[in-house]
Amino acid sequence: MGDDVVHLKVEILQDFMRDVFIGLGAPEEDAKICADVLIASDLRGITSHGVQRLKMYYDRIKLGLINPETNITIVKESPTTATFDAGHGLGHVVSYRAMELAIKKAEEYGTGAVAVGNSTHYGIAGYYLIMACKKGMIGLSITNARPSIAPTFGIEPMMGTNPLTFGMPTDEEFDFILDCATSITQRGKIEVFSRTETPIPEGWVIDKDGKLATDPVEILKQLKDGTAALLPLGGAGEITGGHKGYGYSVIVEMLSSALSGGPFLKDLTLDKGWKIGHFFLAIDVSKFISVDIFKKITGDICRTLRNSKKAPDQERIYTAGEKEYEMEQKIAKTGVPLNKSLQNDLLTMKKELGLEQYKFPF
Ligand SMILES: NC(=O)c1ccc[n+]([C@@H]2O[C@H](COP(=O)([O-])OP(=O)(O)OC[C@H]3O[C@@H](n4cnc5c(N)ncnc54)[C@H](O)[C@@H]3O)[C@@H](O)[C@H]2O)c1
Repeated sequence: MGDDVVHLKVEILQDFMRDVFIGLGAPEEDAKICADVLIASDLRGITSHGVQRLKMYYDRIKLGLINPETNITIVKESPTTATFDAGHGLGHVVSYRAMELAIKKAEEYGTGAVAVGNSTHYGIAGYYLIMACKKGMIGLSITNARPSIAPTFGIEPMMGTNPLTFGMPTDEEFDFILDCATSITQRGKIEVFSRTETPIPEGWVIDKDGKLATDPVEILKQLKDGTAALLPLGGAGEITGGHKGYGYSVIVEMLSSALSGGPFLKDLTLDKGWKIGHFFLAIDVSKFISVDIFKKITGDICRTLRNSKKAPDQERIYTAGEKEYEMEQKIAKTGVPLNKSLQNDLLTMKKELGLEQYKFPF
């Protein structure tokens, strides 16, 4: 970590992010949800999707690309399902409301599924999984995103990084939260590399000739004009299973767009308003089996995996959600690390919104 990194207290950063959304016209309750999702990302060590993205939302709201007031319309509803139109409001807010409703339906009928259309970027998929797990439920959270992944044997960015994510409650201190994209990496991580102009690892991205690319600044520009593409999970071609990551990404694209009748693939563009779609599912474990038995088995599965034989030179085997849990304990104490570029973002927003009550140590 560079010398210019400053750690900011979690509570101060969370309050600041809330006040930025309020300053941009979001109602207080909605602003709190946005700040909560963003700070959860920072706490979990997902540096790509927390405060790092605040300025992106700020700019988009100011440009009129996101409505700061999230006016949700229920387009269709049944006892176990609903379809929301998010009114092109804040993705975090509509996603919170969608998972909340999915959980409510699951409490009553065993499962609840909510499709969301006409939305915007919802941050970390995992936040909504945790909502379900806290209630002893299995959660599924997915979203489409701007085109950036090339299909197997292609070079054109077509699918978004399309996270396909599941959460399972366990009897451990942390739940099993598999929260990741269907690409090897995602745009936010390349943004993190670009802030320090560090080359990205080979194998994440291909250029217009199908060659591996590593310059994060160039890649971010090229992803925009379609001359570079992220690779799906499994990588280029079929040998290492790239076609499987490609397939999972298409499933996310279909569930995110087709159930809400929204745009897909290359129609998710700025000039067409980025009408993102999401899909949430909550499954109430107690309708199948006692939650304690379920949690004991899922916990046993995780413990057995972690205790299995390690590869030479490896000290630990992890299960999903574990690293983020440990990071949460750490960041809660140390505060959120902010590099120079993020400090400048915060100072700009503070000045422009007149949030002078915040005295940052930078
Ligand atoms: N909103 C969007 O459009 C969008 C798009 C893509 C990704 N995202 C978010 O970006 C974030 C990061 O995504 P990513 O694809 O870079 O994730 P990643 O590659 O960092 O993988 C994270 C997941 O892998 C697990 N994990 C990490 N190391 C492990 C190990 N050794 N063993 C077992 N499990 C391990 C973690 O617990 C976590 O569940 C996620 O929160 C995701 O939701 C959002």
